[in-house]
Amino acid sequence: MQQTITFPSGTVDHFFQASFAEQAKTYDKQHTIIVTNEHISKLYGQLFKGFTTLVIPPGESSKDMNTIKSLANDLLHAEATRKTTIMGVGGGVVTDITGFLSSVYMRGVRFGFAPTTLLGMVDAAIGGKNGVNLGFNKNVLGTFTQPQFIVFDSKFLDTLPNAEWSNGFAEIIKYACIFDAGLFEELSKNDIDYYKQDHTALNSLIERCVALKNNTVTNDEKETGLRKLLNFGHTAAHAIENLYELPHGKAVAIGMVIACMVSERVTGLDPEVRVKLMALLERYNLPVKMNIDHKKAMEILRMDKKRHDDMIDYIVLNKIGEAVIHALPLGEIETALIDYEGKN
Ligand SMILES: NC(=O)c1ccc[n+]([C@@H]2O[C@H](COP(=O)([O-])OP(=O)(O)OC[C@H]3O[C@@H](n4cnc5c(N)ncnc54)[C@H](O)[C@@H]3O)[C@@H](O)[C@H]2O)c1
Repeated sequence: MQQTITFPSGTVDHFFQASFAEQAKTYDKQHTIIVTNEHISKLYGQLFKGFTTLVIPPGESSKDMNTIKSLANDLLHAEATRKTTIMGVGGGVVTDITGFLSSVYMRGVRFGFAPTTLLGMVDAAIGGKNGVNLGFNKNVLGTFTQPQFIVFDSKFLDTLPNAEWSNGFAEIIKYACIFDAGLFEELSKNDIDYYKQDHTALNSLIERCVALKNNTVTNDEKETGLRKLLNFGHTAAHAIENLYELPHGKAVAIGMVIACMVSERVTGLDPEVRVKLMALLERYNLPVKMNIDHKKAMEILRMDKKRHDDMIDYIVLNKIGEAVIHALPLGEIETALIDYEGKN
């Protein structure tokens, strides 16, 4: 099923319930270069036969300028020009790198994604944000550039490790918290095994999340307002993710618990919401507790993109399904982190 979404900067073709193997047969092999990682190449390399394929090491540590530089060199050697299409096949690390690389190589070439993780399908591959890290600081270098197309093939998930399913559910639970109380209820009744076994339910969950994100991004592509809501749980997450080498989803899970604690102080959020959220996170095998060195986390937070002077745009909940942006003094976040440590 093909759906074309129009963003202020252009259109993106979304191919839902698609077969990457079938789609790949239609690509111009001479002018398409695949970027992927070692895990995906090992598992799905047969799908890339005939394409020039650039393979990066797996993991968040690849998401830096060294990888961009090395891939740009590879593109030059492969004689990639402005007529080349670059296809990122992988999780959020691969699609973030591919998007950034494609938007700066020769001042921008055509690109598309086939996300292979749940997190990639419901979040990282959509919305046009891409970027790489600078040391501990997440996504400091990047652009807003939409891919031309995204291929959603849930068959890739057959090989996805359980821990990565959980990471994907962190972002799905995030959408439920900020936009969709009905989804929160649905998730509370189900679990990972249910979605693994019921492909119809899984595909409709993916499409529901994509629609929630796209509805936000079409209204605020460059994140000047509404799109910031998608950062619920991400401010603290970005501070701890690279510091403790946590997978993105796990960091977001902890970040959402902290954001609920901040919400209790700022919007008077019912503490029962945090209890419900923690139960839901645990249902999807996500962490809710960890020891955080608040001083180290604050050092990273001070360099957050959302900071202005001593304030940071922080996303808080009024209730499940309703989030707001609140300009928060950095000191309040430090208090929340100390508070979180105390309740651990
Ligand atoms: N651009 C955005 O809007 C956005 C949004 C959310 C997250 N992100 C970024 O996405 C990244 C996290 O993405 P992720 O969770 O997909 O992690 P990831 O890309 O590191 O993938 C997780 C692991 O799963 C493996 N893997 C991927 N697909 C597989 C498959 N089908 N079968 C077996 N193994 C597979 C990978 O090799 C890797 O080891 C972070 O860098 C985060 O900042 C970006």
